Amino acid sequence: MTTTSSASPGAASAIAPASVVILDFGAQYSQLIARRVREARVYSEILPHNTPWEEIRKRNPRAIILTGGPESTLVEDAPGMDERVLTSGIPVLGICYGMHLIARDCGGTLIPSTIREYGHAELALDPERVSPLFKGMPAQSVVWMSHGDTVTQLPTGFEPLARTARTEIAALGDDRRKLYGVQFHPEVAHTVHGRRVLENFLYDVAGLQPTWQMGSFVDDAVARIRAQVGNAKVICALSGGVDSAVAATLVARAIGQQLTCVFVDTGLLRAGEAEEVTAAFRDVMHLNVRCIDARERYLKLLAGVVDPERKRVLIGHEFIKIFEEQAADLPDVGFLVQGTLYPDVIESKTKDSKTGHKIKTHHNVGGLPEHMKLKLIEPLRLLFKDEVREVGRVLGLPEHIVNRQPFPGPGLAVRVLGAIDEGRLAILRAADKIVREEIDGAAGLRSLPWQYFAVLTPLKSVGVMGDGRTYANLVAIRAITSEDGMTADWARLPFDLLARMSTRIVNEVDGVNRVVYDITSKPPATVEWE
Ligand code: XMP
Repeated sequence: MTTTSSASPGAASAIAPASVVILDFGAQYSQLIARRVREARVYSEILPHNTPWEEIRKRNPRAIILTGGPESTLVEDAPGMDERVLTSGIPVLGICYGMHLIARDCGGTLIPSTIREYGHAELALDPERVSPLFKGMPAQSVVWMSHGDTVTQLPTGFEPLARTARTEIAALGDDRRKLYGVQFHPEVAHTVHGRRVLENFLYDVAGLQPTWQMGSFVDDAVARIRAQVGNAKVICALSGGVDSAVAATLVARAIGQQLTCVFVDTGLLRAGEAEEVTAAFRDVMHLNVRCIDARERYLKLLAGVVDPERKRVLIGHEFIKIFEEQAADLPDVGFLVQGTLYPDVIESKTKDSKTGHKIKTHHNVGGLPEHMKLKLIEPLRLLFKDEVREVGRVLGLPEHIVNRQPFPGPGLAVRVLGAIDEGRLAILRAADKIVREEIDGAAGLRSLPWQYFAVLTPLKSVGVMGDGRTYANLVAIRAITSEDGMTADWARLPFDLLARMSTRIVNEVDGVNRVVYDITSKPPATVEWE
């Protein structure tokens, strides 16, 4: 799959000017550091710890941050970095493992701690010597620690800057060389003045200005895409989701009609979705959209298929076939746009992990085959989802596209449990429309659930309508709260709202006589039922 090539540093440099390079030593919090730097309105890019100096220098960094990591610097083959990181004169901030590396590589001493320090700690600054790193901070403040090793002897030229009850050297610095290390994690919310530490490093130590904003991101991305593409033609698969929508719009802003978007109506979309997406992109955003009616093709393909994994695989392969047909039909296509986001880039690192169990085959329009030999344009690969929504707003995308709920690649096929036919899809579509209308329009909800939809189960149950017996379908409503879809809880919707949805579904949707509400979290369930 093409996503592997997206991890190449070269591709990244084609998108955004990085003012800060973050060298990743495998920390859980690398993304959070990048995000905090952007919140300080400075642009950053995360690179693997062993990135050669030449690649780092190409980014023209004004500051370098070394992340934490799961290893100890004391073991053989501990992850390291190009030695020029510490001798180039560029200001460096090492966090946890990053601080240990600075201490080790500059000639200090570390020991594996007998006392480990996890969670909250009180950081005490040296009142005699307040470092520029801690400017404006109180003498005592709460920080968050997570470490085993400890620095016991400073390298020449360094000063101790802070301590905790358990760690004598909880921060160190060499003002002359602008090398700093903190044992605690300034990027996590529990470190009360963490933002201040990062801002001091960026603004005061490295002299950066808080000038970066989404508007500058858009301008830079447009200029770079133009330079990258030249006169070539570009193709993009629109899924209707926010990522591909924003990526396509950004590329269109750069190269206009050289971009062709392909939107496949699989017949597995929600009520009004195909029309809504086509209208938004053709009529509002003026993109060049080819809408492919593949409804019959998919119905035939899925006839009698009951197994969820089989459904997912068939749908994904068919999508690729259709996309290939379209690409072959367009002359001189040289580039493919993908809406890859930063979390996808990180996940792709571990896609071959032997420890992870496969739960479901997720399909995104990104999963296109390598033999297409198209070069990738991934303008969003350094951003998080909420930042992508912000880019969408800057580009003028309608709010209903920008704020779309996540929708699975295989669409309603994984919400009609068991065999799929046109009739069952129509029942689900009608029930789902009611769920969305009622929740979207509900007064008094503090915030909308993260995702909400209907599921058509393969069960039938007995009911009574008028004076007659019914034997009809069971619909489930699923509404969840979540941060990222990885874990989720069922939304505590008001009973009145649940009652309204239930009444409307059994009254308005032919073939349904019972409605249930799914009260399972993820784990142990998943968000989708298949
Ligand atoms: P699960 O069901 O795995 O869903 O707990 C987690 C989130 O991912 C969405 N989802 C998908 N998204 N392609 C996608 O792009 C897929 O194949 C797919 N399957 C599930 C799901 O809607 C939820 O937001």
